[in-house]
Amino acid sequence: MLEVRGLVSRFGRNVVHEDLDLAVRSGEILGIVGGSGSGKSVLVRTLALLLAPRGGALTVLSQPVTGPDDPQAPALRRRIGMMFQGGALFSGLDVLANVAFPLREHTRLSAGLIQDLARLKLALAGLPAQAASRRPSELSGGMVKRAALARALALDPELVFLDEPTAGLDPVTASAFDELMLDLRESLGLTVVMVTHDLDSLVRVTDRIAFIGERRVLAIGPIEEVAQSEHPQVRNYFAGPRARSARERSRWKDG
Ligand SMILES: Nc1ncnc2c1ncn2[C@@H]1O[C@H](COP(=O)(O)OP(=O)(O)O)[C@@H](O)[C@H]1O
Ligand SMILES: [Mg+2]
Repeated sequence: MLEVRGLVSRFGRNVVHEDLDLAVRSGEILGIVGGSGSGKSVLVRTLALLLAPRGGALTVLSQPVTGPDDPQAPALRRRIGMMFQGGALFSGLDVLANVAFPLREHTRLSAGLIQDLARLKLALAGLPAQAASRRPSELSGGMVKRAALARALALDPELVFLDEPTAGLDPVTASAFDELMLDLRESLGLTVVMVTHDLDSLVRVTDRIAFIGERRVLAIGPIEEVAQSEHPQVRNYFAGPRARSARERSRWKDG
């Protein structure tokens, strides 16, 4: 349902992706991992039709599309939810208005109905009703992520991109967010592409992961398989302190 072949991404002389291939299956949760600056956010923004590729062939929601300027792009983007790195909520708007924003932009529903739908999405994302009237600055980190998720779900997307959704959260809050993603995938039939550095989270929620390095996908598959990759860069990533702490935590959890 989502595929890119031979992707080229470049900013001036900085070539970020070169001949990158990736295919995402309908209904899966795919994790995107890789070093800082390896082009995970650029990849996600390209697949979400927010950034123009310099080369390659894109298929989004099973439709061939050239990029953000394609006449098909607005209709496809409306079927895609995006949670940006850092949440990116409007700080001047309360939570309800943030979630209502895409509904106001893209539908002609009445103001009353939009409010009701926005409240429903907040509940779906696990936020208490009182959070609706708060500004983002008045929320905890975990609640900001949930509000950003509620906004990403506002238009009932089929495909959702999450860029580091649990970064900066404590392990308990991050694990609650993971549970929420699994529930939503189940109940809403979402396809999810999620950038994360959180190994616990990758193990818990992803069906497969794609490792980005050397401007392309170096390995893709279930995390157990990718973690066994012979590629030095992938090995390094999974042999680091991050992986060790994840192993220690799971040992501790198992008693
Ligand atoms: N809008 C932009 N303009 C110029 N360079 C960019 C832009 N966005 C990303 N880059 C560059 O692309 C590379 C990949 O960035 P990014 O996808 O954000 O990495 P990450 O894997 O950490 O998410 C980096 O070298 C970054 O500096
Ligand atoms: Mg990033």
